[in-house]
Amino acid sequence: MLEDPCRAPAEAAVAYHPDGLLVVEDGHVTAFGPYAEIAPTLGAETPVTAFPGKLITPGFVDAHIHYPQTDVVAAWGSQLLDWLTTHTFPAEQAFADRAHADEAAAFFLDELLRNGTTSALVFGTVHKTSVDALFEAALSRDMRLIAGKVLMDRHAPAGLTDTVETGRTDTEALIRVWRGRGRLGYAVTPRFAVTSSDAQLAMAGEVAAAHPDVLIHTHMSENLDEVARVGELFPHCRDYLDVYARFGLVTSRSVFAHCVHASDDALRRMQRAGASAAFCPSSNLLLGSGLFSLKQACECGVTVGLGTDIGAGASFSLPHMMGEAYKVGQLAGETLDPLHAFYLATLAGARALRIDDKVGNLAPGKEADFLVLDLSATPLLARRTAGAATLAEKLFILSVLGDDRAIERTYLAGRLAHARTA
Ligand code: GUN
Ligand code: ZN
Repeated sequence: MLEDPCRAPAEAAVAYHPDGLLVVEDGHVTAFGPYAEIAPTLGAETPVTAFPGKLITPGFVDAHIHYPQTDVVAAWGSQLLDWLTTHTFPAEQAFADRAHADEAAAFFLDELLRNGTTSALVFGTVHKTSVDALFEAALSRDMRLIAGKVLMDRHAPAGLTDTVETGRTDTEALIRVWRGRGRLGYAVTPRFAVTSSDAQLAMAGEVAAAHPDVLIHTHMSENLDEVARVGELFPHCRDYLDVYARFGLVTSRSVFAHCVHASDDALRRMQRAGASAAFCPSSNLLLGSGLFSLKQACECGVTVGLGTDIGAGASFSLPHMMGEAYKVGQLAGETLDPLHAFYLATLAGARALRIDDKVGNLAPGKEADFLVLDLSATPLLARRTAGAATLAEKLFILSVLGDDRAIERTYLAGRLAHARTA
């Protein structure tokens, strides 16, 4: 992907070579283009692996996910605020135990790789050690991953709250130890405006300002009851975004998950600040949160990535999220182009996470995080893609019918990190 399909025809945003060659050296892409052009430039001794009939793509970028919520995927019967209390907070309490966090982190990262996700912006829990566990596991897999300890000092069970001071100390310690190690990055992570006091939001803004390379990651305008609650808690703020703005949390390094109920005015203020939105269609449908308008966000100029939002979302698969985003668009009278959907799952996510100079497409110089996709992975996929004439058609069929079985191989920095076994 090259251009933003919000501003250019989707076809112009894609570089597709039916018989292509990707050249990788020392973990980086050194060339990508038609085989006939690039092959003659390589030395005779260069090893070449052929994947006939397969599609080589950049790895997927998940712009919003919670690693401690794997065990609440597919929870029945509630919307956001009740879902947090009934399902999510109890599951997150278990991460006080480092052994539990280690096991969950390993499962989580393997699941990402099985689904072709090579980078992600990840919520931990309030426990510092939950993020230590995740970073340790991501470092050993050499993943480009950004994560943070949740800040929440009110309106949550006692075992799940920190304070302004412990939140600051733990966040600073995590930044000091992990930021920049391997391919890791840090995000200051207040859960949302409901669960942080004014003083804690102010502290989050101060810590983010003191570390210009860290992201800010939180939720905003997901659910109407949540929006109303924030209005009650912050009566003097103009809207939900203004709560974050007052504490220095709306910046070019901010990623706001959801933004389903954000006004044009709020989205334009996000655009002016350079802040991004994470569109999480599976979560929005399952929790009944509402229909995000990609058209509105595009028109307001906001960078939008695609998030699974595990465990409110029901799948780790970004291709599945492309299909869910299409369905949300259908309900809202907006037809999502498959190439635009693919952009959301790759380069747009990298842009939102400010790692697009390193990953997100296969341009020379980028880190070689790439996938080998099998568009014949199931009998139905094979039957439907066999008759598909264009790349856009194939990607659309993948987004509706595909899952982890379509990810034949996942490479991290040129090294095989996952191979489908059956
Ligand atoms: N808002 C605050 N916390 C959460 C969470 O864990 N998941 C989702 N989807 N929304 C939230
Ligand atoms: Zn979330």
